[in-house]
Parts: sequence; C-alpha cells; structure tokens
Amino acid sequence: MWSKILLLFLIKNINADPTPIVLWHGMGDTCCFSFSLGSFKIFLQEQIPGVYVHSLRVGNSTVEDMENGYFMYPNKQVDYVCDIISKDPKLQNGFNAIGFSQGCQFFRAVIQRCGHRIGPVKNFISLGGQHQGVYGLPHCGALQHQSCDYVRKLLNYAAYYSWVQKSLVQATYWHDPLDEDTYKSHSEFLAEINNERTINTTYIENLNNLNHFVLVKFDGDSIVQPKETEWFGFYKPGQAKKLITLQESELYLQDRLGLKRMDEAGKLVFLSVPGDHLRFSEDWFIQNVLEPYLI
Ligand SMILES: *[C@@H]1O[C@H](CO)[C@@H](O)[C@H](O)[C@H]1NC(C)=O
Ligand SMILES: *[C@@H]1O[C@H](CO)[C@@H](O)[C@H](O)[C@H]1NC(C)=O
Repeated sequence: MWSKILLLFLIKNINADPTPIVLWHGMGDTCCFSFSLGSFKIFLQEQIPGVYVHSLRVGNSTVEDMENGYFMYPNKQVDYVCDIISKDPKLQNGFNAIGFSQGCQFFRAVIQRCGHRIGPVKNFISLGGQHQGVYGLPHCGALQHQSCDYVRKLLNYAAYYSWVQKSLVQATYWHDPLDEDTYKSHSEFLAEINNERTINTTYIENLNNLNHFVLVKFDGDSIVQPKETEWFGFYKPGQAKKLITLQESELYLQDRLGLKRMDEAGKLVFLSVPGDHLRFSEDWFIQNVLEPYLI
C-alpha cells in the first residue's frame, strides 16, 4: 500500500516538470499580442499545467519585434535568438520548439547553427514554414494573376541584390525556380541553411539530434506560394508549374541536409490541415501535435 502511494507520488513528480516550449512568431506578428501568440501561450499553459513557455521577442519591445520581422537580417535574428535561448536558465535541460510561418525557417537555422550550444531541442514543430522559400506573393489567387506576375518579375529582378537581401527579410527566402543558380549563389540565408552552397556537417548533425521534425502544411494556404514549401516541396527547377516533393528533390536525393536519413529513421512527420495559413483548431492541435509531441 505504501509502496503504491510512493510510486504514485514519484510518477506525479516525474510528470511535474513538463518539457518547456519556445515559440517563434511569423511576419507581421510579435511574441506577445493577446490575439495571437499571447493567447496561444495561455492555451499551452492550460493544456500542459506547469509548462514553461518562452515566446521569443526579437528586439527590446513588441514594436521592435514586429519591425525586426521585416527588416532585421535573418542571420542576425538567428544569432540574437541563439543568445537569448542560451541565457534562459529554464531552457538548459532542453525544450520543444514551435515555429510559425517564417519563424519556422528561422528556428530551423537556430537548431542547425547553435543546436550544440543550447539545451537539446527535442521536437521541432513547423507550422506553415517556408523551408524551400517562396515564389509568389500573399493572396495572389487566379483573379489577380497578371499583377501578381508583374510584382513577381520585379522581385525576381531585385531579390538577390545584396542590399535587398540585407534590408528586407522576405527577400532572403525568395526562391526563383527559373534561375536556381542565382538562388544558390545569392540567397544569403535560405540557400545557406539548406546546404545548397556547401555542405556544413554541423547543420546535419544538429538537425539529426531532434527526436521529431514535424512539418505542418496548410492545404488551403492562400499566403504561402507554393504551399508545398511547408513540406520542403517546391517547383521543379527550370519552371514554375510542376511541383516536386522533398523526396524527389536533389536536396533529399543527395542528402545534403540529412533529411533523407531523418526520414528513413522516422524522424520526419508530415501533417496537413485543410485550412488557410496558420488556421487550425485547438482540437486539431491537441490531437495531432500536443499529445504526440509536447507532453
Ligand atoms: C536593444 O537596445 C539596444 C540599446 O539601445 C540596441 O543596441 C539593440 O540593437 C537593441 N536590440 C535589438 C535587437 O533591436
Ligand atoms: C558550419 O556551421 C557551424 C555552426 O554555425 C559554424 O560554426 C561553422 O563555421 C560552419 N562551417 C563552415 C565550413 O562553414
């Protein structure tokens, strides 16, 4: 009888310290707005009693955080966040990471570049990330096709100039499938973290240390083009209609980033939701993400 009580006591205490969670918001959002990540944080804390949730703020205030999402060079944001995480005493024993939209590829860069200098990242949940970049602009449905194409052409022309790469965050993950060579040589952020330029084995090792890398794609996404980038898919090089999956890409076939070995080890998880960008219900999240990966 007493041993049973002791056992229950022990189990309760083992569960008393849930794995902390770190959130990185998307473009136009901040760490703490009550209508976005602020309420998501409260939701997590209600679902996982006692959990420590750190919603990353890039900058000294919420306003700076929002501005930096547009203007602070991602390589700098990544360094900044590595520093914040390494200094947070509550994250020393490891944590789960959740990225939202562009926060996904930035968080992946943190894991790849400084995973060996911070507490181990256990599971990484990518909600609508642009892992192969974007080629298209928000809300460019068929109706507005012509003007979208025009802006697309303009961005194609400008996106790889070094000053654009340095001054507009979204240009650093612009990926023109018609000109893969320019993308690989001039994309200072995305092509670099995807090991398209050279192969950095630290990136492979750090990513492989994850237990699971969960990629969530929004099937009705009207913001991210192509939405397949959320699963590392993209246009087949040389054109902008036919899509290929991660498994059909050179990145995978040559295993430049270690994703093939992670896939074969069952570490890559591909989930899809019917809604638009970042639209999911609490029930969906609890069932498909929280229960399997966060508790
Ligand atoms: C925070 O404020 C300091 C001091 O004013 C400044 O040097 C620094 O660049 C700011 N940090 C960010 C990320 O904007
Ligand atoms: C690979 O990445 C690590 C971590 O960011 C960095 O320290 C190292 O210099 C990089 N190696 C090469 C060859 O670029």
